[in-house]
Amino acid sequence: MSAIPLGLLPDTSSVAADGSLSIGGCSIADLAAEHGTPLFVYDEAHLRARCAEAVRAFGPGRAVYATKAFLCTAMARLAYDEGMLLDVASGGELFVALRAGVPASALVLHGNNKSSAELRQAIEAGVRHIVVDSFDELGRLDALHATGLPAPRVLARITPGVHAHTHEFIATGQDDSKFGFNLGNGDAARAVERMRRSASVHLDGLHCHIGSNVFAASNFAKAAEVMAAFATPLDLPELVLGGGLGVAYVEGEEAPTITHWANVLLDACQALGVRSNVSVEPGRAIVAGAAITVYAVGTIKDIPGVRRYVAVDGGMSDNPRPVLYGSGYEAFLPRAVAAPRTERARLVGKHCESGDVLVFDARLPAGLAVGDLLATPVTGAYGHSMASNYNKLTRPPVVFVRDGEARVVVRRETFEDLVRCDVL
Ligand code: LLP
Repeated sequence: MSAIPLGLLPDTSSVAADGSLSIGGCSIADLAAEHGTPLFVYDEAHLRARCAEAVRAFGPGRAVYATKAFLCTAMARLAYDEGMLLDVASGGELFVALRAGVPASALVLHGNNKSSAELRQAIEAGVRHIVVDSFDELGRLDALHATGLPAPRVLARITPGVHAHTHEFIATGQDDSKFGFNLGNGDAARAVERMRRSASVHLDGLHCHIGSNVFAASNFAKAAEVMAAFATPLDLPELVLGGGLGVAYVEGEEAPTITHWANVLLDACQALGVRSNVSVEPGRAIVAGAAITVYAVGTIKDIPGVRRYVAVDGGMSDNPRPVLYGSGYEAFLPRAVAAPRTERARLVGKHCESGDVLVFDARLPAGLAVGDLLATPVTGAYGHSMASNYNKLTRPPVVFVRDGEARVVVRRETFEDLVRCDVL
């Protein structure tokens, strides 16, 4: 029955006298009229506040933004301006961050299967750290060093054998994982030993990441404990405890704040006698709640005794998370934010398959009609970054709003973009 909880909307959301939503002083209806739908609207103040909170909580140089959650030139600059370092997980993410003007010394390269070309790109640029993930990668680094490249500063990614409570596709800390050097079977110790003796790398510290969208602070404390036990005798300067802090997507969910997360991690490390610099790599917690996706309703289909389907002009191409992970979202009408949501419907997209679902059992206000704008909140992380051109839909634009001004930071793709790589 309840209206959309305001806590799920971006920080600067406000409801006008007529019940309609503005973010960053910009009316959502006006933005949709100007930029079309689907449309990602990001609250710039919200983004900046989360970056600043992370830097304050962990300390300068110890909060690294995981760009995979959402990356474009404007976002790379914003995170860097707010004092964050950036984690990039491919040559492409590295390219975008560098092209945005972020210095290589603020970039950390990840990846479980980095190619020699990506490693070369990172070493030539002079990234702050490469997080080494496998013995094969160490072999590639040896070979690159033999060609005359300098030895990069590296961290060793450790799989601590801690199972985070989250979807199995995004849990990474357990023994059965493609990521990192396994602690339990001795690979971690062997890798560290090899790196310490190697002339092709400088080992600065250890890294772990137990998973994503994790709500239980105790999971992070457990990882810190396991990592501290391994790290202490090694006495290396850096310890990175990854990202993974969960966010609330639907009514009733509650996630720890970045500050609370920092307190849990830093207190645990202090109690364990960790002397290294402790840093983290949040992605979702920085960007998820900053954005909403605005769609237009195109078709409403009632199947008596079965359900109502409400179809919008986007779908699994701009938000694959419901299909991939069964993730839950809420929906609401930007023209009537406080309207009680008394009706039920399946919110679907326009793709050619039944799996194209945005909200399996959406609560919506009465009176929803074709032509209405409909929005899903908390779409700032892993939405735009995982968007596709399935069915040759053009990917939506991204607009940053702040103090009554809106700026397009990623333009809508055109049909011409759809054939720009085609060779005749
Ligand atoms: N550091 C490393 C090494 C990671 O692999 C990740 C995420 C992060 C940091 C950032 O995690 P976050 O703070 O955003 O949870 N597509 C999935 C999420 C995949 C996360 C992959 N790694 C989703 O939509 O839920």
